[in-house]
Amino acid sequence: MTDVRRALVVGGSRGFGARLVNRLSENGWAVTATGRRPRSDTSLVDRVDYEQIDLAADTAVRDLLEFLRSLRPRLVVFNAAAYPTAEPDLAECEVVFRVNALVPHHVFADYLPGAECTCVLINSDSIYHANRTSGVYAASKAALRVLTSALADRCRGSRACAATLLLGPLADERKAKQFERIAQQRQMTPEEVEKAFLRRANPSYVVDSLIDLEACVRTVEYLVDLGTQANGMLCRLDGGSAGSLL
Ligand SMILES: NC(=O)c1ccc[n+]([C@@H]2O[C@H](COP(=O)([O-])OP(=O)(O)OC[C@H]3O[C@@H](n4cnc5c(N)ncnc54)[C@H](OP(=O)(O)O)[C@@H]3O)[C@@H](O)[C@H]2O)c1
Repeated sequence: MTDVRRALVVGGSRGFGARLVNRLSENGWAVTATGRRPRSDTSLVDRVDYEQIDLAADTAVRDLLEFLRSLRPRLVVFNAAAYPTAEPDLAECEVVFRVNALVPHHVFADYLPGAECTCVLINSDSIYHANRTSGVYAASKAALRVLTSALADRCRGSRACAATLLLGPLADERKAKQFERIAQQRQMTPEEVEKAFLRRANPSYVVDSLIDLEACVRTVEYLVDLGTQANGMLCRLDGGSAGSLL
């Protein structure tokens, strides 16, 4: 009998999540992705399963828990993120915290201790340099970071583990298109725009290029290879965003 390696990527319908789903599938995992959009709006390969689950819905905790219990994945990556508008009202802030921090905490606090599962919660270097536009998002990710430590404590002595993969600015399609447009307007190369973006975005960055999605995929696989040794681990692939002190 073959031991099927089953993975679930929550927020796997686009961006880094979709890339991770397709790469895990190529690497032999039986993968299920979730998102809000219909499957026809994704670029997921045919052999991947897909489920529409809205993490902002009242039923989100129940829906995701039921889904996890039926799937029993060896790896779960919580990649979903809600990005607020520039001036979010209180109701929007609540949704952002719910999707980014509270729903994953409630679901995994219930699910993980009885499971054999590595749970990687994707975080963001925005927690190190919040400003007026990123503050609500950054605060929700900081909450997720702290709650992931609480999850790791719940996993102690079990066959599950909770680890953080904290990422810096990703080399995604959106930024590539944006840099090309700016490069054309300013008669620069996209690489020059990328370097200028990184220098301006955070003076602590020690990288000249955005974080490669393939490096993120490899880091997720590294974390799952570590098994329960990765419980409580904070793995940063963020270009040195926090500077020298943290
Ligand atoms: N992009 C970056 O430069 C960057 C930098 C640092 C850290 N990160 C972190 O990396 C992860 C991926 O970022 P990304 O930019 O690739 O994200 P993205 O392209 O915006 O994708 C986010 C995913 O979350 C899902 N999602 C959003 N709201 C949801 C909801 N209410 N219910 C269910 N699913 C929902 C989306 O599904 P639908 O689109 O189908 O709704 C999508 O699959 C995030 O955790 C982010 O915080 C990203």
